[in-house]
Amino acid sequence: MEENSITQLTAVLIGAGARGVGAYAQFALDYPYELKFVAVAEPDQLRREKFAREYEIPADQCYESWEQLLDEDQLADIALICTMDKMHYEPTLKALNKKYHVLLEKPMSPDPRECLEMEQAARDNNRLLSICHVLRYTPFWRTIKQLLQEGRIGDIASIQLNENVGYWHIAHSFVRGNWNNSNTTSPMILSKSCHDMDVLSWLMEQPCIRVNSYGSLMHFNIANAPEGSAERCLDCKVESTCPYSAPRFYLSKQYTNWARHFTPELTKENIVRGLRETDYGRCVYRSDNNVVDHQVVGMEFASGATAMFSMCGFTFDQERRIQIMGTRGELRGDDNTITLYDFLTHQKTEITIPAQTSGHGGGDAGIVRSFLNDVRNYSSQETLTSAAASVRSHLMAFAAEVSRLEGGKSIELEAFARELLAGLQPLQAR
Ligand SMILES: NC(=O)c1ccc[n+]([C@@H]2O[C@H](COP(=O)([O-])OP(=O)(O)OC[C@H]3O[C@@H](n4cnc5c(N)ncnc54)[C@H](O)[C@@H]3O)[C@@H](O)[C@H]2O)c1
Repeated sequence: MEENSITQLTAVLIGAGARGVGAYAQFALDYPYELKFVAVAEPDQLRREKFAREYEIPADQCYESWEQLLDEDQLADIALICTMDKMHYEPTLKALNKKYHVLLEKPMSPDPRECLEMEQAARDNNRLLSICHVLRYTPFWRTIKQLLQEGRIGDIASIQLNENVGYWHIAHSFVRGNWNNSNTTSPMILSKSCHDMDVLSWLMEQPCIRVNSYGSLMHFNIANAPEGSAERCLDCKVESTCPYSAPRFYLSKQYTNWARHFTPELTKENIVRGLRETDYGRCVYRSDNNVVDHQVVGMEFASGATAMFSMCGFTFDQERRIQIMGTRGELRGDDNTITLYDFLTHQKTEITIPAQTSGHGGGDAGIVRSFLNDVRNYSSQETLTSAAASVRSHLMAFAAEVSRLEGGKSIELEAFARELLAGLQPLQAR
């Protein structure tokens, strides 16, 4: 499309944190004729001022919280909501009621009823609510989807999807970091794996009928704390023998950048102070974490096709691997290679996906571009990651969590959704 044929849309940013700024806002700097931020809500003064400077937002359009911003009359076409998991529902409802189109970070909410309510609010207000299932916008996953749609492996009989979290990443985000406790954020199946449930739902293109799940917090707990270990790695006598040593992560070249989650300036001095003072320096066996470190989910779909998903923190690499078994062939994919096997011709075809510059394999920029187009051409039709699609896959995640907590019991999705709609207690209260 010609640059001058595109309508510029305006946006407000709610939550100028890692995702809001690091993943999405950059699009407005790269494509200023497509998107302009006109206001920001962020309680952290440094973040708020930095964002205002870089995006030229006047002081009277900078707010300390979403409540203040959304108390104003509508300021822009779009609200980009990138607060933490438990702060999605209220600003989303308010923004939709103020007639913003909303791009909301995943998970929609840790409460299934709130997800359903947000979807309804978007419909009632005739506005687009899209959820940041960024994987659907990556060349890797889009290529897989296209190959399936072309019938290259026939009908899907079964899918095996592995989410290899990575031993250092699970320690960083899900033992010490922001998503370590389901009481303050979400269970792992939502915070990390709602993307996986979503990809499976999208690739299968048919309703999931039932799920069951097993998993636990097997390793990162006090029972496994080695003798001689301490509350913090800096005081630990056995730190050098521990694969999860925080100083080894954050002071090494490879992972220093992750220290940005606890210090804005990445000097050695600041990192060491962070290791003394923040949760990122705590012993992985003595943190306040409660989310699982491994979980499997079994699923059956309407055609009888099945899927098996496995999330595990005890892997060397951080990656997703998929194997899709069809009636005429097989597809295997890892981070950047897709291999097709044709049963008729015995041919093996390898497709290499070029490295992407934006985060999540190109999905972070891809979703913003697509969302802007969807807003420009808004109709009440479902879009690639609009709330209706997301609710379907979130329900699979919620049902899996209920199953896991109830010893692997099989959960029928239709009845599960019906109960929720009838006003069942939210998960946390069960
Ligand atoms: N799509 C993905 O692949 C993906 C990846 C990582 C995280 N996430 C999700 O993105 C969301 C944000 O994660 P993050 O890593 O950016 O967290 P973050 O903590 O870096 O950012 C959240 C921001 O919200 C701000 N905030 C807090 N209270 C506020 C209020 N009252 N009004 C306005 N802003 C407020 C915080 O100060 C912070 O700057 C989470 O829900 C997370 O699960 C999605």
